[in-house]
Amino acid sequence: MKLQDKSVVITGAASGMGKAMALLFAEEGAKVVVADINEAAIQAVVEEIATAGGTAVGAVANVAKEEDVARMIDTAVQRFGKLDVLVNNAGIMDAMMTAESVTDDMWNKVMEINVTGPMRAIRKALPIMKAQGGGVIVNTASVGGLFGSRAGAAYTASKHAVIGLTKNVGFQYGKLGIRCNAIAPGAVATNIGVGGSQPDEYGIQQAMTGMALQRMDVGDPKYIASVALFLASDDSAFVNGTVVTADGGWTAY
Ligand SMILES: NC(=O)c1ccc[n+]([C@@H]2O[C@H](COP(=O)([O-])OP(=O)(O)OC[C@H]3O[C@@H](n4cnc5c(N)ncnc54)[C@H](O)[C@@H]3O)[C@@H](O)[C@H]2O)c1
Repeated sequence: MKLQDKSVVITGAASGMGKAMALLFAEEGAKVVVADINEAAIQAVVEEIATAGGTAVGAVANVAKEEDVARMIDTAVQRFGKLDVLVNNAGIMDAMMTAESVTDDMWNKVMEINVTGPMRAIRKALPIMKAQGGGVIVNTASVGGLFGSRAGAAYTASKHAVIGLTKNVGFQYGKLGIRCNAIAPGAVATNIGVGGSQPDEYGIQQAMTGMALQRMDVGDPKYIASVALFLASDDSAFVNGTVVTADGGWTAY
């Protein structure tokens, strides 16, 4: 049991990688706050964990809303008495909009969910973790946070920002026993899609060119959950302020 009795909050935990993380972490003994905007899907994950003998509670939370973020963290402290691990995983795509076509609405929405949400959750978690004498933060970034054209302009900028935030927090709080790392998944089979019914044609063509040039394997969300488990547990005690790429070798070319 790598996370025995650890109190964990996972955002975007009702689908895809977040769901795989919630199931795996509970199997490893964690008490999980399943946070998401999708209430029905949250319930299904909480029930699946309970049926398997684990402990989980749902929290309906839109990470773009500060009061929701606060409530989600408070849920962990109230229900499980502490906050050991925060996984900022919720995220959306940007319909592959280029720097020329991106709207303010899309830009702001992607930034609020992908960057401001994690920042606010971290801001709320740090004093709790400091008082406890430690904690772990894991952020789901993307290979789009390391390279220039895996998505549109807003998504790419947002995931680069997540990686910058990860390094800043990891360095500044490492000495206080708090580690902060990011995962950069490649293509993973989830429900994320491209973030809209009408993706930008030039943008998708540009992004797909890079994808076709470099052979891209599509991974199972479980592969990413096992990386998150490594980063959340003491197995990665000396890993801090960095990014673990999990893309089947896609970006190694
Ligand atoms: N799937 C991929 O290929 C891929 C690759 C790299 C990175 N990522 C990143 O992985 C993370 C997880 O995505 P996924 O692929 O599992 O997608 P997914 O759509 O299957 O799951 C994302 C979950 O986040 C929830 N969510 C969306 N907006 C939210 C909000 N405002 N507040 C709270 N919850 C919200 C959704 O309801 C959903 O349950 C995202 O940050 C995404 O950017 C995905």
